[in-house]
Amino acid sequence: MIIAIDGPSGAGKSTLGKMLAKKLGLLYIDTGAMYRTVALYAIRGEIDTRDREAMTSAAESAEIGLSGNPDNLKVFLNGEDVSEAIRSAECGQAASVISTHTGVRRILVERQRRLGESAENGAVLDGRDIGTVVFPNADHKFFLTAKPEARAERRYSEDVAKGRAVSLEHTVREIEKRDERDSTREDSPLMIADDAVVIDTSEMEIGEVLERMISVVVGRS
Ligand code: DC
Repeated sequence: MIIAIDGPSGAGKSTLGKMLAKKLGLLYIDTGAMYRTVALYAIRGEIDTRDREAMTSAAESAEIGLSGNPDNLKVFLNGEDVSEAIRSAECGQAASVISTHTGVRRILVERQRRLGESAENGAVLDGRDIGTVVFPNADHKFFLTAKPEARAERRYSEDVAKGRAVSLEHTVREIEKRDERDSTREDSPLMIADDAVVIDTSEMEIGEVLERMISVVVGRS
C-alpha cells in the first residue's frame, strides 16, 4: 500500500505521516529530508545551489540513508547522522532551491520509488509531488494544507522548542518565500492531485486530522 501526503511546509505532513505509518504498520519516508540532505552536501562542499549541473552531480554523489521507526527517524549523509543538521532554515531554503533542478529531482524521485516499492507492507511518503509524480497510482492521496499564519506559527514554535533563535516575522517571510518557489517551479510544482483528499488543518487538532485520514484509508468515508 502506498499513501501519498503532499502539501506546503508546516501543514502537518510529517507529524501526520509518521502517525499514520505507525498506526498502519507502514514505512514512513520523508522525501523533504532527502532534498535537505543534498542541500546540506552542497552547503558543506560550497557548491552553488543554483548550478544545475553541479547540483545533479552532487545528488548523484550524496549517499542518503533513512533509517529507524517513525518515532525515531535518522537521516544519514555518507554515513554521518545529519538528522539535526538538515533541519536548519538555511537547509530548508537551499533544499527549496536545489529541488527546482530537473536532474536532482530525477535522481531523488527514482530513489523514492525504489524505497516505497521495496517496503514490506507499504509506505507513507510525504513531500510535494508524491501523488502527482512519484506515485501517481498511490492507493490513497492526501493534500494537507493550512493558512500561512497557522503554518508559520507551527514552524516558529518548533524552532523555539529546539532553541533556534528566530522571530515569527522572519518565519512568516521564510514560509512565503518557500511556498512561492515550490509552487511556481517548472518541474513538478506543488499541486493538488485530481484524486487527492484535501484537508485544511488550520483549525483542526492533530488527532482529528489523523482520524479523518484513517477513515479515508479504511474506507469509512
Ligand atoms: O518538506 P520539507 O520542508 O522538509 O522540504 C524541503 C524542500 O524540499 C521544500 O521546500 C521543497 C523540496 N521538496 C520537493 O521539492 N519535493 C518533495 N517531494 C519534498 C520536498
